[in-house]
Amino acid sequence: MTMTSDRRIRVLCIVGARPNFMKIAPLMRAFGERAGRVDARLVHTGQHYDEAMKDAFFRQLKIPEPDIDLGVGSGSHAQQTAEIMRRFEPVVDELEPAIVLVVGDVNSTIACALVAAKKGVAVVHVEAGLRSWDRQMPEEINRVLTDQISDLLFTTEPDGGKNLTREGIAADAVHFVGNVMIDTLLANRERAVPAATTLAGIDGFAHDARGYGLITMHRPSNVDDPVVLRRLVGTLTDLSNQLPMVFPIHPRTRARIADAGLDDALDASRIALTEPLGYLDLLGLMAEAKVVLTDSGGLQEETTALGVPCITLRENTERPITVTQGTNTVVGTDPAKIRACLDDTLATGGKAGRVPELWDGRAAQRIADILIAWADSQVEAA
Ligand code: UD1
Repeated sequence: MTMTSDRRIRVLCIVGARPNFMKIAPLMRAFGERAGRVDARLVHTGQHYDEAMKDAFFRQLKIPEPDIDLGVGSGSHAQQTAEIMRRFEPVVDELEPAIVLVVGDVNSTIACALVAAKKGVAVVHVEAGLRSWDRQMPEEINRVLTDQISDLLFTTEPDGGKNLTREGIAADAVHFVGNVMIDTLLANRERAVPAATTLAGIDGFAHDARGYGLITMHRPSNVDDPVVLRRLVGTLTDLSNQLPMVFPIHPRTRARIADAGLDDALDASRIALTEPLGYLDLLGLMAEAKVVLTDSGGLQEETTALGVPCITLRENTERPITVTQGTNTVVGTDPAKIRACLDDTLATGGKAGRVPELWDGRAAQRIADILIAWADSQVEAA
């Protein structure tokens, strides 16, 4: 590992898709506070590029503008992954980083990790070790492969470390540090846009004294198969008679709903569709919701941190601590199970949970300190 001429560690921090932005924000801040030791550069692959999917997050979370934007845009998994690799390689050649740091499990994560590993650049993975054990899920492939080629791995929950040990990763490369996404949540909780403000901006949305539910859904397993999508939309439409719902809609879901001819059904329901929301807007809505129904990984963790009941519309979760300790219930897509869980949540106020260990707002600080000590040890060993 080589340092810059002034003994700083050059770290290329990678972001690509929406869930990466809230994870990188506290890391950039922690590295900025250690600028005497870390020369952090931000690379955006361009996987997400819309105002609502990217710019709003940079603005609200005060993430510095990327030093480099690879501008890859959308495509099939192979096209997107290959294009990121093709465009990232010359950046590594030019900037000669000591470390490439990747977060999460999106295509940008594996693509940049793979380029770095092949060039002998150390790979650091933040949010390592999560496993859904479902290889149909594109993110699961990205997680397993990224962890295998990482040199330093940071986990959010103790199960992550156990999974990595089982896969042959050396224990001294793994550090349980907590959750950078929760760092962002805690840092921004007071700045969240009040739900009433957001709801007032939604045309014709009437929520009653019972409050409202929040829906998000974009996983290919839920929205790409028209049969599953139709069933889910039918169930949610039906449940909205009981509790009105707000559904900020991801571009891929919007397209699939239109393809499946489901727009009219939603129009006639008590589900209000909105464009994808900014971080502070969604945080406010989530914090005050009666219940969140989602297939997102991030929302499972955020609801646990907020103490809001979460019904996960998937058959599995890679974040089991949100179930064992938090407010999450994994119900799948069976209408009867979703309905039973919603009924129970409304009747009882939902699952009470506690906030997992080290989800305390200081994960990025721990990561920065461990990364510096580790880089120094690598230089000494060389
Ligand atoms: C990606 C991640 C997923 C993450 C999700 C959050 C992978 C494999 N998946 O899925 O883990 O939960 O981001 O959003 O990396 N699109 C736009 N504007 C944009 C970006 C995308 O309209 O700014 C549309 C395009 O039609 C695109 C589609 O959304 O084809 C899907 O985008 P893509 O990045 O391929 O995957 P996501 O479904 O967003």
